Amino acid sequence: MDIQTIILAAGKGSRMKSQLPKVLHQIAGKPLVQHVINSCQTLGATHSHLVIGHGGDLVRETVKGGRIELTFAEQIEQLGTGHAVKMALPGLKSNSPTLILYGDVPLTHHQTLRELVELHNNNPSGIALMTCHFKDATGYGRIVRDDDLKVVGIVEHKDASEQQKLINEINTGILCCNSDQLTKWISQLSNNNAQGEYYLTDIIAMAVEDGEKVETVQPDNLYEIEGINTLRQLADLERVWQRELANQLMDGGVTFRDPNRFDLRGSLTCEENVVIDVNCVIEGHVNLLQGAKIGANVCLKDCTIGPNTVIKPNSLIEDTVIEDECSVGPFARLRPGTVMKSDSHVGNFVEVKKSIIGKGSKAGHLSYIGDCEVGKNVNIGAGTITCNYDGANKHKTIIEDDAFIGSDSQLVAPVRIGKGATVGAGTTVTSDVSAESLTISRVKQKQIESWERPQKKK
Ligand code: UD1
Ligand code: CA
Repeated sequence: MDIQTIILAAGKGSRMKSQLPKVLHQIAGKPLVQHVINSCQTLGATHSHLVIGHGGDLVRETVKGGRIELTFAEQIEQLGTGHAVKMALPGLKSNSPTLILYGDVPLTHHQTLRELVELHNNNPSGIALMTCHFKDATGYGRIVRDDDLKVVGIVEHKDASEQQKLINEINTGILCCNSDQLTKWISQLSNNNAQGEYYLTDIIAMAVEDGEKVETVQPDNLYEIEGINTLRQLADLERVWQRELANQLMDGGVTFRDPNRFDLRGSLTCEENVVIDVNCVIEGHVNLLQGAKIGANVCLKDCTIGPNTVIKPNSLIEDTVIEDECSVGPFARLRPGTVMKSDSHVGNFVEVKKSIIGKGSKAGHLSYIGDCEVGKNVNIGAGTITCNYDGANKHKTIIEDDAFIGSDSQLVAPVRIGKGATVGAGTTVTSDVSAESLTISRVKQKQIESWERPQKKK
């Protein structure tokens, strides 16, 4: 869609009581203003002009334009929304449709924006305005219409008469007009009003004065036009949005034990029959394949969970690929570079890093497996540790198919355990073990019959 956008993001957000610029606070793990930029991208906008001020450098460093060409205009003093738009004017393509958005209004659907832009394109010299009906419109600009219900202006709450305060159609702030018209109207703004600010909203009456049409669209959902001013509002909108994301996943066939206790901070794709228990947090890109079951309090980041695999509660899994019919946890930690082949099992208090667990292999309890290649049908006993780090470098452990590692063993890398070998419980393996052998390193057990326990002095 041939459209350029202006995103106002210079405000301080004093009511957030925070050092962080308001537009960098997050919803669903993403800065507010990044949501807006991403909607522009989905809309197919070519350019976004960000008006920055408070914390501008940090905003500049943090946001990503992706396919959109992003430019920044600085507004040193915040003299009002009209003044903010003025800062962006020099960067605009002339005589082109221009959409004005707000960095602290993060969740407008791209479809709603498209509707607004299309309305504008049918009437390219006028203004398309997004409005909304609120029961309590306190604080918002009110849409003033004439007897024929034509929009004739916007009056800010602080400038409104008692009569005008009864109007419950409000200005969302989002609008679309031609850049040349915008430039002309902005140049005529004055700050002769209750707040001594240059109001963008005054361009509506100017357009009407010029004989141009002002038309309106409404979004389907209230959250689409909700702006953030306080941390409470941020938290409320986060919940609304998370429920919306859960609803979309349920529409696609995902079962949630409680969709109100779910947090998606990235992207999640699910095949059929996926079940997600309460309090799961999903980050990065996660794929849940057919019939995967995710237990309570599980955190998943950038991973694929295979068909019919079960992740038991309180597991943390990052940058990992798990194949089908596996089980993980409870309380397992799979760190980056882990691959679990079909039908393998990692149990409670097991940490795995940069390792392959072969088909049908198991590490049931209390182990560290790092920089390790585990073959098929290997049994790793409780408390087994790969000693992969010598204080300077990391080394590899290779455990071949059908090996059995007894409990409480240490495998000092680099080391190889041959196919079908058995390592006795409590062994410290420091050199390679050959196939089908038994390796054991234990102090011989002795028994002292006459032993008496020390007694406490009376
Ligand atoms: C504005 C509208 C009001 C509308 C409301 C919707 C005006 C005059 N009023 O009021 O009709 O109902 O939004 O939420 O436009 N900003 C700058 N520089 C400035 C001033 C503001 O970048 O000098 C940015 C802010 O960071 C914010 C946005 O513009 O993202 C809106 O500013 P704000 O002061 O919140 O406007 P409102 O008074 O809420
Ligand atoms: Ca506001």
